[in-house]
Amino acid sequence: MSTAPAPPHRMGGTPLSSRLTPRDMTLRKGRQPIVCITAYTAPMAGFMDPHVDMLLLGDTVGMIVYGMDNTLGVTLDMTIAHTSAVVRGSARACVIADMPFGSYQASPEDAFRACARVMAETGCSGVKLEGGIEMAETVAFLVERGVPVLGHVGLKPQSVNVVGGLRVQGKTRREARIVAHDAKSIAAAGAFAVVIESTVEPVARAITRDLDVPTIGIGASVGCDGQIIVAEDTLELFGAFTPKFVKRYAELGQAVSAAVGAYAADVRARKFPGPVHVYAAPVKPRRRQR
Ligand code: KIV
Repeated sequence: MSTAPAPPHRMGGTPLSSRLTPRDMTLRKGRQPIVCITAYTAPMAGFMDPHVDMLLLGDTVGMIVYGMDNTLGVTLDMTIAHTSAVVRGSARACVIADMPFGSYQASPEDAFRACARVMAETGCSGVKLEGGIEMAETVAFLVERGVPVLGHVGLKPQSVNVVGGLRVQGKTRREARIVAHDAKSIAAAGAFAVVIESTVEPVARAITRDLDVPTIGIGASVGCDGQIIVAEDTLELFGAFTPKFVKRYAELGQAVSAAVGAYAADVRARKFPGPVHVYAAPVKPRRRQR
């Protein structure tokens, strides 16, 4: 019989990590709204972590951090670097990585290889991928092999070139049927929750009522089980455009501009650095003169 001590993660039955898990998110359905927000860097993850249930390294990192026109240029290496930063900067929230365009669509096997790399190299708790019925087989393949999946239906920004722009979904009966069918397929395949983006309220409400797993809305009304927002949109740190569904909770863009303006004025007036910001040389005792 082995006398080796139990590995730390099993000692006293207490899990090593006290993070919220994808399963915790699923169990919130009908009980407690789920609060999610995007994060791309360690310091921002740290500020937001105590307040939210889930941090998403969104593929919006391409637009918000790298100034791209859309999300299509994000690579697996960028996803891994930024998800790792978010994991390092947080302690409580469930961290999910948004799989970049091209990393999961070709086949379930390709998707598994990419997701396994992201999970192993970052320590995140699961992945998000965009798609409806066409991705159901892949979602089931991943979940069966240990990858928790957050679905994403309604407006799917990675399909921007096929649908011809970022249009609100569910306005026609046909569209409403497609979004509902997509959400059901992904949930049935084993997703732990489903993001519904830019979809009219009655459709989002009906999907939320019909699914056993939570829906997380972005531009899909308060009828969803939880909400997600792009942090920089809501903090005024991204100026290219602001979708209708964004509520501004702070004007940090203006605060940054005012602060850097004040710094520049101080440098030009030689007021910065002041006496409290400089390293004084140690005063050497003078040698006595004979
Ligand atoms: O990439 C992202 O930020 C997202 C959210 C908008 C859900 O997918």
